[in-house]
Amino acid sequence: MAVSVLLICCLLAACGRETAPSSPTPATALQPAPVAAASADTAQPAYVGATYAPVPGRTQPSAAQLTEIGRRIFFDSSLSASGKASCASCHDPQHAWGPPNALSVQLGGADGRQEGPRATPSLRYLQTLTAFTEHHHDNDGDDSIDAGPTGGHMWDGRAGSAHEQAGMPLLSPAEMANVSEGDVAAKLSRAPYADEMRKAFGDDVFDSPKAAFKAAGLALEVFQQSPKDFYPFTSKYDAVLRGQAKLSVAEARGLRLFNDENKGNCASCHISQRTQDGAFPLFTDFGLIALAVPRNRTLKANADPQFHDLGLCGPYRTDMKDHPEYCGLFRTPTLRNVAVRQSFFHNGVFHSLEDAIRFYAQRDTSPQRWYARSAKGIVQQYDDLPQQYHANINTEAPFGQKRGGKPALTEAEIRDVAAFLRTLTDADQKNVPVAR
Ligand code: HEC
Ligand code: HEC
Repeated sequence: MAVSVLLICCLLAACGRETAPSSPTPATALQPAPVAAASADTAQPAYVGATYAPVPGRTQPSAAQLTEIGRRIFFDSSLSASGKASCASCHDPQHAWGPPNALSVQLGGADGRQEGPRATPSLRYLQTLTAFTEHHHDNDGDDSIDAGPTGGHMWDGRAGSAHEQAGMPLLSPAEMANVSEGDVAAKLSRAPYADEMRKAFGDDVFDSPKAAFKAAGLALEVFQQSPKDFYPFTSKYDAVLRGQAKLSVAEARGLRLFNDENKGNCASCHISQRTQDGAFPLFTDFGLIALAVPRNRTLKANADPQFHDLGLCGPYRTDMKDHPEYCGLFRTPTLRNVAVRQSFFHNGVFHSLEDAIRFYAQRDTSPQRWYARSAKGIVQQYDDLPQQYHANINTEAPFGQKRGGKPALTEAEIRDVAAFLRTLTDADQKNVPVAR
């Protein structure tokens, strides 16, 4: 109980902070309730004025109640315009809450046939993801180093929290395609769990579409913090860290290559060591980086040669559009459960784990292998990022060799790294695709 009270308090505090200007998200209509405490002389707690601030005489929903309501909402396809898509259609629990198939991007929208330009990420291991910051300072070791743009939900870090994020798919035309918060609220009020929502949030929760919509967002956020579902830490590698299992010879070689600064150097972004305070690694530092993955010519959006998904500098987030140095940057994803995916990187351009690793090893040594050619037959290196942004592209190991030089990893080493990455799959994941 103490834990749940704490959690709710944190969430309420987070609601209060939504006024922060750092997260302008035009796609959401999640406007915070006016905060009475804004006048400095009457110093009141931050949650005063938040929609779910404690109301005298009304019980607060427990974390367990919110988790169960959130779970019902997550799987409820009646909340989509097509009546067929729920959050789980794209974020499948059998695939680590990521895409269930090998499509580069999942289909949604009113007719269930619209495609957005981005691959669906796994929702596992986001529990410590912080809000987006332009200048990240580590609290492990040397905090004078500016690690650059870090954090935030979505590939471009544009959503401040899972709570704020939840409104986006419900209203996005390419996803669940509701026209308004009121549209969602009306559907919620007819849902089989509407009574549970009344019990948790008050009998009047459906009187205000805004309140009902916000309640759903809160429930979804708390659900996505459920440890058993979203951060179980049950992979073989976790067992190894606990001293309960041993890596095979190939897996151990893969881990060494993954960590070696002169070989894969993967761990410089996909952290593989426990943190100083002993927390298990998440295989991401949540930093935003430009890798220049190839243009995915199968995406409808890319039929227009002028269209570029530039990540942090736009077009889906607009607050950084005047920062050309941020064009091409996307958030480093966790590699936990990466082996259950069948499409890789923000545009889903690759469909095998080995190809994703091979791209790192050979991006600069064999660009002809990865990038399209111009009409004149010239290889267009980094073909999804306009020339003026090429200086943003990361060139540290495993990248940075001369064209025709020696790739950072041999084919045998690529197989070893893949073998290691397969140890990051949680025990409850059965649908692991076979190696290609
Ligand atoms: C049509 C497929 C689709 C549906 C339906 C969908 N999502 Fe997503 N989800 C995505 C895609 C694609 C992204 C990445 C979008 C981006 O980066 O711009 C994403 C991103 C997210 C993220 C951010 C993850 C991260 O790594 O930062 C969360 C959280 C999330 N979705 C939760 C939900 C919830 C909750 C629902 C239901 C209310 C939902 N999604 C419905 C496709 C979908
Ligand atoms: C400089 C930071 C950095 C380094 C080093 C790095 N990665 Fe990544 N990794 C990223 C970023 C950023 C992305 C997402 C990029 C995008 O989609 O545009 C990513 C994505 C991936 C993906 C796709 C995951 C998914 O969910 O689609 C795989 C697989 C991966 N990395 C494996 C590796 C391996 C293996 C290495 C070492 C050979 C490595 N990475 C080195 C930053 C890094």
